[in-house]
Amino acid sequence: MQHWQHSSYEPYLPLTEKSNPITRDIDRASPKEIVELLQKCDAEIFERTSQGNPMYQTLNSSSVVQTIVDVSKRVEVILKDPEDSLIVLSGCGTSGRVAFLLATSLNRWLASHHQKQIYSYIIAGGDKALLTSQETPEDDPLLGALTLGKACAGKKHVLFVGISCGLSAPFVAGQLDFCLRNLEIFTPVLLGFNPVDMARTEPIQDCSFHFKEVAERMNEMQKQQKAYVLNPAVGPEAISGSSRMKGGSATKIILETILLAGHEAAYCKKAVTFNGILHSLNMFEKVHQITYSQTKELAALVQKAAISLRTKGHVYYLGWQTLGIIGIIDASECIPTFGAGFEDIRGFVSNGFSEMNNKEGDLSSLGPHFIVDHKDFVDSILPNLSDNDTVIFLYSENDDLNEVSVLANNVRQHTSNLHAIAHELKGLSDPERTRSQFMTVLTIRWPSSLYKHSPVLMKQYWELSTKWCLNAISTGAHVLIGKVYMNYMIDLRVTNSKLYRRAIHILQRFTGSTQAQCETALLRAIYDVEELSDEMSSTDVTQHTLVANKRGSVVPITLVMLQSRCTIAEAKSYLDAYSVIRDAVAACQRLL
Ligand code: F6P
Repeated sequence: MQHWQHSSYEPYLPLTEKSNPITRDIDRASPKEIVELLQKCDAEIFERTSQGNPMYQTLNSSSVVQTIVDVSKRVEVILKDPEDSLIVLSGCGTSGRVAFLLATSLNRWLASHHQKQIYSYIIAGGDKALLTSQETPEDDPLLGALTLGKACAGKKHVLFVGISCGLSAPFVAGQLDFCLRNLEIFTPVLLGFNPVDMARTEPIQDCSFHFKEVAERMNEMQKQQKAYVLNPAVGPEAISGSSRMKGGSATKIILETILLAGHEAAYCKKAVTFNGILHSLNMFEKVHQITYSQTKELAALVQKAAISLRTKGHVYYLGWQTLGIIGIIDASECIPTFGAGFEDIRGFVSNGFSEMNNKEGDLSSLGPHFIVDHKDFVDSILPNLSDNDTVIFLYSENDDLNEVSVLANNVRQHTSNLHAIAHELKGLSDPERTRSQFMTVLTIRWPSSLYKHSPVLMKQYWELSTKWCLNAISTGAHVLIGKVYMNYMIDLRVTNSKLYRRAIHILQRFTGSTQAQCETALLRAIYDVEELSDEMSSTDVTQHTLVANKRGSVVPITLVMLQSRCTIAEAKSYLDAYSVIRDAVAACQRLL
């Protein structure tokens, strides 16, 4: 099997869009094999060698560790002099959600220690995007810059971290450009997982720069320590391009390492050192090993979730504190990633929006997608719950186990298909009574070596561990019900320019047609016409994506059209006959 680091491996794609050789046949794997493949993929985050390809630096490369040290010291400076200062974390989709989680958690920590809250987060599309996918603002660099300018009004020192896993989001490029033009106030940091050479070069509408140009300017400024680029290679995603998985996890690992090192330096007089940072990264690797040591138990949950989805049931995550937020995030990402219905997998957190502590407050009046409190689950979902549904509790020994028991008891009146993922340190205070209420409990036991010096870190470890478990459950379940072809999510929603390009690439990859042929066929499916009008052909990508947003299955329809040279109506009826994408594609190939 060829390693993705070889220069000849899918050379036309940036690393974050390449397909991972490890998961090439994930769509044929058993639940246990799926978990093992994901484990291997996630282990690449911590890979130490660059397989002889100097283009890639990894998380443990000295240049990356040194940049983490430098940025941590900037955090320390801001924490020591918080007046008129701000640390802003910003991104689109999952990157913005991770930014939100970290900024709110650390502000809470600062408040509890009577310190000024200096963190702020920005997510493209605003707080609505924490729970639903808002892909269009991702393409807007001006909106990014304006939002940043507003968030930092009146501040004299701002450490800005722009997260774009693919070094691709115009929203983030606009923000970095804004920082680079105001270096007397801003110290910009670019966080992503492609080498700068692979940053996106596609022109941005009404804009004089593209992402790569901004990334190169950042690189230049790094020489004077006025900007920083943190872009280790963590390998392609298990499902091609799905940066909610490794991208999100690696973002969390790197930012937590930086911010907590800065906190320890500012408040515990523990200087930021190269070895200290290396040690922190090693600890996260242990979190990976401990989490995935429960392959069998995790695979059983993947299987349960798949059965529920296959039988038109649902999967519900009921979590406490930030573990509940991790559940909400994982669930909401299934809609754009797998074309899932919003009812398919849902997350709820104890105390709802007051636990989330997001900038725009309670969003529940916006509609059913924004109902997140356990109380809402009890009122609106519980009465209709059945054994078809899988319910997974997410808690740790820091949570009110009595509350966990009461809710578990309540749920058990409606379904026996009740499970838990529980994090345990010294032993939960009444484990047996709590455990006996669940059909299965995946207990993750944390050794004292990991938590002895920092209870804050323990919470971050539990969050990451829960993220890995839930990513495995939701991804594995959708793989098992046939939503993925090889390791490509074919039925992707074409809702912004990045996804438009990804769709065309996937079509080329599977049909062997030229880029022009694929684009024309895709546009026919988007506009639902056999012949494109001149206006349709000449309009810009943004307009195409706005129309595509209203249509379902445009990529599978295009694939069948290209494969069998049929009409749109024929392609649609053909697809209706198959629920498993691989079957549809295989049958389609047999036609030729
Ligand atoms: O637009 C879709 C999406 O791919 C999300 O799934 C992802 O989280 C977001 O874009 C951000 O991507 P990036 O971090 O590469 O900018």
